[in-house]
Amino acid sequence: MDSTIETAPRPEFLSGDVQHLLIDGERRPSASGETFETVDPATEEVLARVASGGAADVDAAVASARRALDDPAWAGMSPHERTRVLIRIGELIERHAEELAMIDTLDNGTPITMTRGMMARASEVFRYYSGWPTRLYGETNASVPSQVNLTVREPVGVCAGIIPWNAPVLMAAWKIAPALACGNTCVLKPAEQSPLSALRLGELILEAGVPAGVVNVVTGFGETAGAALAAHSDVDKVAFTGSTTVGKSILAASTGNLKRVTLELGGKSPNIVFPDADLEAAAAASATAFCRLSGQVCAAGTRIFVHESIHDEFVELLAAQATQWMPGNPLDPETKMGPLVSSEQYERVTSYLALGREEGAGLATGGSAVDGRGYFVEPTLFTGVDNRMRIAQEEIFGPVGAVIRFSTEEEAVARANDTRYGLAAAVWTNDLSRTHRMARAIKAGTVWVNQIGPQDPALPFGGYKESGIGREHGSASIDMYTETKTVMMQLR
Ligand code: NAI
Ligand code: MG
Repeated sequence: MDSTIETAPRPEFLSGDVQHLLIDGERRPSASGETFETVDPATEEVLARVASGGAADVDAAVASARRALDDPAWAGMSPHERTRVLIRIGELIERHAEELAMIDTLDNGTPITMTRGMMARASEVFRYYSGWPTRLYGETNASVPSQVNLTVREPVGVCAGIIPWNAPVLMAAWKIAPALACGNTCVLKPAEQSPLSALRLGELILEAGVPAGVVNVVTGFGETAGAALAAHSDVDKVAFTGSTTVGKSILAASTGNLKRVTLELGGKSPNIVFPDADLEAAAAASATAFCRLSGQVCAAGTRIFVHESIHDEFVELLAAQATQWMPGNPLDPETKMGPLVSSEQYERVTSYLALGREEGAGLATGGSAVDGRGYFVEPTLFTGVDNRMRIAQEEIFGPVGAVIRFSTEEEAVARANDTRYGLAAAVWTNDLSRTHRMARAIKAGTVWVNQIGPQDPALPFGGYKESGIGREHGSASIDMYTETKTVMMQLR
């Protein structure tokens, strides 16, 4: 990357020597005193030193969350007051959006315009869940005339959230907001690549009036802090977003105390373009779908199925769109795509660029890393891809699309579903019947039609097959954060 990338003005929050854990309402060092460095991926320079939480810190955080769960300050807070608190968190995120956006942009390389947008979305997530505390309805059932039978919703208890680095504040919001709406307490473990904004968010949550200990943040590594949290016998639920491999280990670790598990894992989402679609719009949105966030998006539309009759025309349009995503300085508001998050991701993505060539795919654009400082790679479009190639089956998590040609609708469905994943899919067509046939036939948690990528906190999000377990958002998420208790009363 060009050497004009300046050292950015640092938010005040980053001025301390070490960013400590947030446990029981206080910032404190890790029990071992160990720390780790987090790096700005645009410059490869150390951004901050962060407390490295281990099993002892996880114990302390879980104990704090357990105490807070039954403390009248939280357990006795009325649902109306919980609503007000959640609204205040949304407002505080909005008020501190510039600071939070800057922290995440420096920490994970997401372009600043995008992190600003994510703060607006995170704030919206808290506002959405603020409506739920007074709507946790139970049921009555008159099946036994001599009894009054009813159900009530209760908090699950201590909820662990383990989140990735691609959208740190937004992912934290996805875990914390529903947990709080339902009266739970939390321990959040942000990713080691982007640990900073979760700590700042934790402070804002305290400022909003959430009692100490209700939300704790333990920074640290997956194998230590994350694994300790996933295996902890006093954690009632774990919600994880990240790789399918780690998701499986979290499910395995849950068996010790049968904690509830929701997993939002990887994807290799099909994006299917039929000849009757608006090709210009499809090309622009499809490029966005695999280049946005440098392709580090679980639901990225990375397998682009194009009908043979429009294949060449569409590939040309798509390649032209993709070249508009050349990476740049993430602090520049003109930049659409920043670097990859880390040297590990850089190695991983560049190895797939080489693999695509070895497997015999063509290249419509890109294919290389960008020389110089920072973990930048070009937007890359492989063509002539066979759905059985590794570049079509494995999650690359870089700005890499694979074009696969098809001739019939049946063939498109069969190949789209020929994957171990099932997170999302998109279909481009103006044929109403085909739209509905495709929406039914595709095995994925979300099917977009004539668009790709949008999410809404009111709508469930999650995966079929190895893309996960359970759904986040919408009323489905309330089921995940509550236990249902049946009360049976004999009438005399
Ligand atoms: P990861 O799955 O290792 O990390 C996600 C989170 O899990 C982080 O907070 C990490 O510290 C934690 N973690 C790691 N190992 C753990 C363990 N044994 N127990 C408990 N927690 C643990 O993902 P990573 O290594 O950052 O990225 C590797 C690949 O995973 C990416 O290339 C991408 O394909 C996929 N990924 C998918 C994401 C999604 O949104 N579905 C997000 C991040 C990564
Ligand atoms: Mg970092």
